[in-house]
Amino acid sequence: MIVIGGPTCESLTSKVAKELGVEVGKLEVRRFPDGEKYLRVLSDVKGQSVAVIQSIHHTPDELLFEYLLLADALKDLGATRVTAFIPYFAYARQDERFKPGEALSFRTVSKLIESVGTDEIFTIDMHQHRVLKSSEVFKIPSHNLSAMPLLADYVKKLGKLERPLVIGPDAEAEQWAKIAADRLQTDYDVFEKKRLGDANVQVRPRKANANGRDVLIVDDIISTGGTIVEAAKILLSQGARRIQVACTHPILASGALEKIRAAGVSDVIGTDTVPGPISFVSVAPVIAENVRK
Ligand code: R5P
Repeated sequence: MIVIGGPTCESLTSKVAKELGVEVGKLEVRRFPDGEKYLRVLSDVKGQSVAVIQSIHHTPDELLFEYLLLADALKDLGATRVTAFIPYFAYARQDERFKPGEALSFRTVSKLIESVGTDEIFTIDMHQHRVLKSSEVFKIPSHNLSAMPLLADYVKKLGKLERPLVIGPDAEAEQWAKIAADRLQTDYDVFEKKRLGDANVQVRPRKANANGRDVLIVDDIISTGGTIVEAAKILLSQGARRIQVACTHPILASGALEKIRAAGVSDVIGTDTVPGPISFVSVAPVIAENVRK
């Protein structure tokens, strides 16, 4: 068994390999002068089962293409099995044709991943709003894991919140709010959200009232930060004492972190599915556990 990851996943790949006590496969990845990508597998993978760790974030087209080159090369070099671990799976939000003529990007990306001989795929808290199960999109065995138990444990260890009200900023976030609330032995609710544009959302509360409460907002992705900012505004106007945010994928586009802090959120916690300034929690144990299986 070999664990191998693209250059942007080096640290996560080493952590997973360390947990498993297995070798990290070696790669050479660079660009030709004309901008084309060069990839070479330096380890002997013949007859081996290979777990590929490749998060597809920030430069999704490039990192997806890197995955395609890598998986195809591994199979061609004699790997018996290629299991994809895609901690952040870009394009999952375009799972529907919202306007006539739009590309169904989620479906296209899934087809590409399958086309290079991927045998099985694992994602982590993949955006599944309208598509409720990854098996609706993938023909190969697929599993969506969650980082929320690890995030909730981290929040508990930080110990700054007293029996927090857990809030999911939209209906889809109920699954994560429930996990976090169970773990923290507390209550939860979700808000209603309407997306008005790429960076513009409208959020409305439902039953729960944050008056006098510490609050933990949980979500899968922080991209522009618009969702968290709107949710925080409501919670503060209700009289919340302290607000923390935990998300699996801290994409943090266009000054999101600054916006969230300016909105009165005290701590923002993310994982290393997208390495960055708030990646305090590693998803390595979740990946390692499933590679082991
Ligand atoms: C969407 O439904 C997701 O669960 C997140 O709430 C969303 O991607 C966050 O995006 P932004 O930070 O741009 O509001």
